[in-house]
Amino acid sequence: MDAHKSLTIGLFGFGVVGEGLYKVLQQTPSLKATIKKVCIKNPEKKRNAPDALFTTNKDELLNDPEINVIVEVINESEPAFEIVSTALKNGKDVVSASKKMIAEHLPELLGLQKLTERSFLYESAACASIPVIRNLEEYYDNDLLHSIKAIVNGSTNFILTKMFEDKLDFQQALLLAQQLGFAESDPTLDVEGFDAANKWNFLLTHAYGIVVPPDALVFNGIQSIHQSDALVATEKHYDIKLVAQAKKLENGKVAAFVLPQFVKHDDHLAFVKNEYNGVVIESGFADKQFFYGKGAGSFPTASAVLSDLSALRYQYKYEYKKLYHHKPNELTNDFYIRVYVSFDDWKYIPKEKFEWIEEWHAETDRKYLVGVLHFNELAQNSWWRENKTSLILSPEAVIEDVEVRKLKKKSLELAGIV
Ligand code: HSE
Repeated sequence: MDAHKSLTIGLFGFGVVGEGLYKVLQQTPSLKATIKKVCIKNPEKKRNAPDALFTTNKDELLNDPEINVIVEVINESEPAFEIVSTALKNGKDVVSASKKMIAEHLPELLGLQKLTERSFLYESAACASIPVIRNLEEYYDNDLLHSIKAIVNGSTNFILTKMFEDKLDFQQALLLAQQLGFAESDPTLDVEGFDAANKWNFLLTHAYGIVVPPDALVFNGIQSIHQSDALVATEKHYDIKLVAQAKKLENGKVAAFVLPQFVKHDDHLAFVKNEYNGVVIESGFADKQFFYGKGAGSFPTASAVLSDLSALRYQYKYEYKKLYHHKPNELTNDFYIRVYVSFDDWKYIPKEKFEWIEEWHAETDRKYLVGVLHFNELAQNSWWRENKTSLILSPEAVIEDVEVRKLKKKSLELAGIV
């Protein structure tokens, strides 16, 4: 596609993002990008655009030779994959915002990009307005990426902010996130961490060349965070955030997961409120950098789609440099993790699984401890997410120092709690 050629778009989906893109394109005539047809599921729904624009027949878009770009912003993952693969095979460039679909089909999508040599861009699928994918692809090409820590889900960050700062209850905060168009149609995807884990899945590919199925990542959402956890956080001068993180260990492997975490007030991520997202990158040469911007909502998401459309003008493609041009990194669960766990009864907690427990409060109805576990304990067992147990990572959670492994376990008898 040459730089002067117009972009003729076939748009799939006219929800929060699709309609946002329609409006944004009307305000950016310089891009010379026009939506020729919009494919929707429900023709009965009233839309803020001329009727003639809409169809329910996907082939009208996929088989139209004039349409050179397909923008796919629908909800359902399998139909989205079908649309994207057909479009690429039909020689069209594709821009997508379907994070679940990308996470679930990444190996096939990588294959299709190689086969068809078309562009498949999805900047809007993670952190909406923050250009995180292109940054990871381009800027850190040769730099050593020590770690990335991020808030990648706007709805859960919005809910935590409203609950702990504005004192709304969970249901009120969720309802507001839904009304503002931040939440997924099925909000459990946000609340229980699936959406963040999906985004983290393909961000790991761009950051470290890691390609794993979505269920390979240990993750949780904010559903078990208890009011008492917020009180402990306040006492300790922490915020609670849902943090996606990846850290390169000394053995060259990568520790990665998405879990709630206590965040110190002076941490960059503590600054991230409401539907904003934030990404803190630590690298060998650039040192620490912080990216911040709206992570959900109609225009912020459409802005990233717009930026992808504009990148198509110079045939921009992801090169997946860490995967194809460098030795890809490997994911590992072989490290230790410092956690805070709150619970109703000791019987739900396998105390013997802890390397050591360094703090505990057991007098009140809601009890808690702070201790260190091997990460495999979280990967292989589910006690930490059952029986109203709440697990929140300590601020500097990953312990990899080999000396630590040699430390004699501080016995629980010594601690006097077994
Ligand atoms: N439900 C998502 C979120 C939308 O809250 O982050 C943006 O991907």
